[in-house]
Amino acid sequence: MSSFRNLRIVDNFYQTSSFFPMPTIVIGTLCEDGSTTFGPYSLVFPYYIAGKDDYAMLLCARNSSNTAQNLLRNPRCSLNFVPDDRATFRECVRLGFPGDTPQEKMKQCIFAQEPGLMVVEHPGEIFPTVITEAFQVFECTWLRNLDHADGDLPGCLEGYEPPYHDFNGITSRYGAHFILRIDRILMKPRQHDAILNGMKPGDFPRVPVDYGYRDSRSFWMNRFRRPRSFPLPKRSLDRTAVRYAADRADDVVKFTDEACDMLLKVPRIFLSTALKGCVDWAKANQVTLITDAHMRQIQDKRAKEKA
Ligand SMILES: Cc1cc2nc3c(=O)[nH]c(=O)nc-3n(C[C@H](O)[C@H](O)[C@H](O)COP(=O)(O)O)c2cc1C
Repeated sequence: MSSFRNLRIVDNFYQTSSFFPMPTIVIGTLCEDGSTTFGPYSLVFPYYIAGKDDYAMLLCARNSSNTAQNLLRNPRCSLNFVPDDRATFRECVRLGFPGDTPQEKMKQCIFAQEPGLMVVEHPGEIFPTVITEAFQVFECTWLRNLDHADGDLPGCLEGYEPPYHDFNGITSRYGAHFILRIDRILMKPRQHDAILNGMKPGDFPRVPVDYGYRDSRSFWMNRFRRPRSFPLPKRSLDRTAVRYAADRADDVVKFTDEACDMLLKVPRIFLSTALKGCVDWAKANQVTLITDAHMRQIQDKRAKEKA
């Protein structure tokens, strides 16, 4: 006998048929008059995270929302990660009431606004403002050429007719997906320092976790609690396994034992990628025998690139 019951999967299953923790993000987009309007969204997740030309987020939105209509007109947006406090979440719920025009919503908006980095770097262009109270902001551009969504236009507030795209642009009568290239990540100084110099529990921003609109009456969210850290399992590869892989990494470039020892903590699944990175560095620097000193140079270079 299973310890679970079968639950019917219905529309909006993430909030109607399950418990799905989500971030609360306030998206700034540009109205026709060039002003910024804000709408709260939770279905906003990392999409391209590595190995592509761009880094990108994916937003799922009602296609008649101000946010979707504005993105169809102008692809720029700001994803403002707002902190956990009652007034902020109450404002998100107010801004989330469907059908209000940007003018109605924005005249009472409690959030302070300021220019982001993109507008400073691209004088003469307009970009949505960012929310001062946010702990981080992603300034993004909708990649309208993906899935041939460049022909999708604003203006249908009663539902779009088919054909629909699979994953970018108008994807159903009332739905849209937007793949948003991340142009800049703006971070508050405390979190910026922590990311570069090492996190302490107190450095984590107060991130709310919301569970969406659940009982036809209210939105639900969790209060932030200080994160706990759990050390990774202490597992190291044995020396012969690293030596075996290192000897086969390249015909010309070889590794000393001390250099191999510096790879003992790399998880096995990443070992050949790590070795390939070292070989590429060696070839670029005319090195044929990689020593522990070279490995330290490679590590320093990676640390600098990350910074
Ligand atoms: C916390 C919160 C999260 C929300 N997340 C989403 C979402 O991910 N996708 C969506 O289509 N609507 C979402 N909504 C509803 C939208 O906010 C609502 O459609 C609103 O009208 C959008 O504002 P806009 O028309 O100014 O873009 C959310 C509402 C709240 C309060």
